[in-house]
Amino acid sequence: MSAAVARVGVVGGGQMGAGIAEVCARAGLDTVVCEVDAVAARAARDRVAASLDRAVRRGKLERAAARDALARTVFTGSLDDLADRQLVVEAIVENPDAKTEVFAALDKIVTDPAAVLATNTSSLPVMRLGMATSRADRVVGLHFFNPVPVLPLVEVVSSLHTSAETTLAVEDFATRALGKTVIRSQDRAGFVVNALLIPYLLAAVRMAESGFATAAGIDAGMELGCAHPMGPLKLADLIGLDTVASIAESLYDEFREPLYAPPPLLQRMVEAGLLGRKTGRGFHVYAQG
Ligand SMILES: NC(=O)c1ccc[n+]([C@@H]2O[C@H](COP(=O)([O-])OP(=O)(O)OC[C@H]3O[C@@H](n4cnc5c(N)ncnc54)[C@H](O)[C@@H]3O)[C@@H](O)[C@H]2O)c1
Repeated sequence: MSAAVARVGVVGGGQMGAGIAEVCARAGLDTVVCEVDAVAARAARDRVAASLDRAVRRGKLERAAARDALARTVFTGSLDDLADRQLVVEAIVENPDAKTEVFAALDKIVTDPAAVLATNTSSLPVMRLGMATSRADRVVGLHFFNPVPVLPLVEVVSSLHTSAETTLAVEDFATRALGKTVIRSQDRAGFVVNALLIPYLLAAVRMAESGFATAAGIDAGMELGCAHPMGPLKLADLIGLDTVASIAESLYDEFREPLYAPPPLLQRMVEAGLLGRKTGRGFHVYAQG
């Protein structure tokens, strides 16, 4: 990857992909977002537009800058449109088979031999995604935090195959182009932040599940007693309960520690489609839109 990345691709335009695309576009980069089809691409565009609009209303962004950012972002339903990208960040669902398929396809589609393929996975081994390509030395974890335009942290995760040059190039991209702060992590499930955060969220789910306290009580306890900006069940709802369950499964697969095992209530809520904010109901109820 050349020092100055000008053309970025993002695969997946959900909460994270839309946020990553937004920060890239706001940094002046030519950005292409690829979703599963044209309808999902349109929804991704609406997500980015709504977030830019919020930033303008809050006085964080000029109206003209928001317009320019949206204008330099293309939304597509075809991975082929990422052929000329220098950096692609994959941010699709936390599903190992789906992600492996995307990396194998990107490897064939992205033409620049120096291009870097990054994953925003929260918990899956970066090395396995690298091994699905012919360029494992240029596959790296670039783990953003939700909401991406607001939270400054990016974890950079190098697999055993990632070259030092790739690690330095994406660190430079995240800090200089996007203005983020980077911490490095080894390629272990959960990296630094989720390895600490997920057991805490699961403990809160178990507490609600056992009737020990209500969801509102648990959240109020941590907000008012520990000055956390958001209680654990509100945070789980924000992340998405499907994503929390997937990360927990990856952590449990890797470490076999009971504290990482997803509790039955979490599994049932995911099966029921109660995924948190993105579906309007999780441990709390949210106004749609
Ligand atoms: N939610 C969080 O707080 C958070 C934080 C950091 C990292 N992550 C990681 O980011 C990734 C995405 O999470 P999210 O919260 O944005 O999920 P999400 O469900 O909001 O979005 C996923 C998007 O991927 C799209 N998608 C699925 N398969 C695709 C494919 N083959 N090609 C293109 N698009 C495809 C879906 O249509 C959907 O819009 C996951 O790996 C997750 O672990 C999530």
